Amino acid sequence: MKKQRLAIFASGTGSNALNIIRFFKQSKLVEVGFVLSNKNDAPIVKSALQEGVEVEVVSNQDVESAQRIMELCASKSIDYIVLAGFLRKIPKELIEQYPNKIVNIHPSLLPKYGGKGMYGERVHKAVLENREKESGITIHFVNEEFDQGKIIAQFACAIDNSETLETLQQKIHKLEHENYPSVINTILL
Ligand code: GRF
Repeated sequence: MKKQRLAIFASGTGSNALNIIRFFKQSKLVEVGFVLSNKNDAPIVKSALQEGVEVEVVSNQDVESAQRIMELCASKSIDYIVLAGFLRKIPKELIEQYPNKIVNIHPSLLPKYGGKGMYGERVHKAVLENREKESGITIHFVNEEFDQGKIIAQFACAIDNSETLETLQQKIHKLEHENYPSVINTILL
């Protein structure tokens, strides 16, 4: 059986991207075809190359116009796209090309704390300011609206009275690392 080929899109540190790369390294059914980044100095560019994964860096204009990224995905026979801290909007053309085949992870329990401009620390700060009792992560399909695609899975964590931005960030990353690769695996198989 042909392996399912993943593209991972990432703009930053890429701890999730790296975790996914490592998870599928031994898989007989899934392989990471390449990592795409819109930032050539993003740490994930270097770490993916160190893992032996191809990397393509594109401009923000390339992301907006869709053509180059569609060509890259086609030429590398990509079946699914995984977003892991990719901070640009996915163009409509790519969503149409990959219906229900583009997956994102968001560091809150959507629909809470989602939407344009809600990413990274901003999400956790808002959660703490509102004295929420819990937060978590959402894995969802990507549609044309930020963070509004169909939810695939959510995982929650409690927020303690002594919670800080740093401790919440760590909890959320832990949840992401524990769950994102296996949820992707379930979708693909
Ligand atoms: C993660 O928290 C993810 O939820 C969000 O962006 C962050 C990326 O972190 N979409 P990393 O670059 O994978 O460490």
